[in-house]
Amino acid sequence: MGQNLKNNTLSKILDIKKLMNVDKSIETANGLPNECYTNEQYLEYERDKIFCDKWTVIGVGSSIPNAGDVKPYNLLGIPLMIVRDRDLNIRVFHNVCSHRGFKLIDKPCTLKNVIRCPYHSWSYDFIGNLVATPHIGGLNIHNSDQFKKNQSNLKEVRSKIWMDIIFVNINSNEIEFEEYINPLDQRWSKFINREDQKLLVYSKDHGSFDLEVKCNWKFAIENYCESYHLPTIHPELNKVSNINDHYHIQGLPNRFAGQGSEKYEQPVKGNNKFDTFKNWEKKSLKNSEYIALFPNVMIGLHLDHFYVFWLEPLATNKTKEHMQMYYVGDKSANGEELKELRKENARFWKDVMLEDISAIEGMQEGRGSPVYNGGNFSPVMDQPTHQFHKWVANSLLYR
Ligand code: FES
Ligand SMILES: [Fe+2]
Repeated sequence: MGQNLKNNTLSKILDIKKLMNVDKSIETANGLPNECYTNEQYLEYERDKIFCDKWTVIGVGSSIPNAGDVKPYNLLGIPLMIVRDRDLNIRVFHNVCSHRGFKLIDKPCTLKNVIRCPYHSWSYDFIGNLVATPHIGGLNIHNSDQFKKNQSNLKEVRSKIWMDIIFVNINSNEIEFEEYINPLDQRWSKFINREDQKLLVYSKDHGSFDLEVKCNWKFAIENYCESYHLPTIHPELNKVSNINDHYHIQGLPNRFAGQGSEKYEQPVKGNNKFDTFKNWEKKSLKNSEYIALFPNVMIGLHLDHFYVFWLEPLATNKTKEHMQMYYVGDKSANGEELKELRKENARFWKDVMLEDISAIEGMQEGRGSPVYNGGNFSPVMDQPTHQFHKWVANSLLYR
């Protein structure tokens, strides 16, 4: 019955038959219908079924490196906060006071002792316990027999860190994170094993940038899944690594998709190069892989650097893209002698991402057309993109 109820709500927003067309074989399938990119009610539905039901990315650990660092995050209206506790673990809480529901944290900051509510000063420690309730029993009476503090702690959100990426499952109903990430972890174990994952260091000087784009978040993922647009959108990149140097990546079970290149060349400046992962398989030194892990993070792995490009959905037609880059060890990530090379590498990736903006914003504009039915896929070039569409459609329809 739950299933029918869910489809009934969705059927008020869009034609369910169109959504079911997505899961046909690629030759006859259509893409997601226009409403999935333009409709406000759909976005609410998607917030629940895609962002709250799944393992969703809300940031990177390196943006809050020290104990007491706190960062608010607004997931399409749901106020959250990310906290680095005294043991340097990352925790995510609902950003709301247990008393009268005041939003606790408004901007990124570093707190000394507690998370204090600005309204009546109830205070929580960094693991979420309510530790102080000033004047709760009247002037200078800070405790009350009628009130049990431990019933009003902050509400923690299920979260996990992998490769510095912060994942949350807000509805606490997704499979265990280890099981969820295992297929990708296995795939990448020949490039970056557990030991080498610990070598990742974020670049503080030229490692991050944000871009705001006028389109739905899904277009960024769809575009990232395919190399088909290389000759038109990235002509320079296409000269060094063209369509034929790329291969499709389609994770099974269906949780990620993307493409890989067999022509990766390490950036060089004079004699300087970045350090490389120690256990990278020798026969794959020129492989690099670009994977979209559904729903909202795009990652890029190379012999000498890794990046996380994650999406903050803001509205049906507005998205913030966040980039963070990582290198192997401290010298490559932050050493003075490689600073220029880091700057060039960040510039290179920023240019690529900027080139993609015209493509993804153009698709948004096209979705205003009443005759567009989700379109068709190239049976050869669009398989990973189709895989993402299927993942979205099935996440909306089932479970
Ligand atoms: S609402 Fe937070 S202390 Fe009253
Ligand atoms: Fe691109």
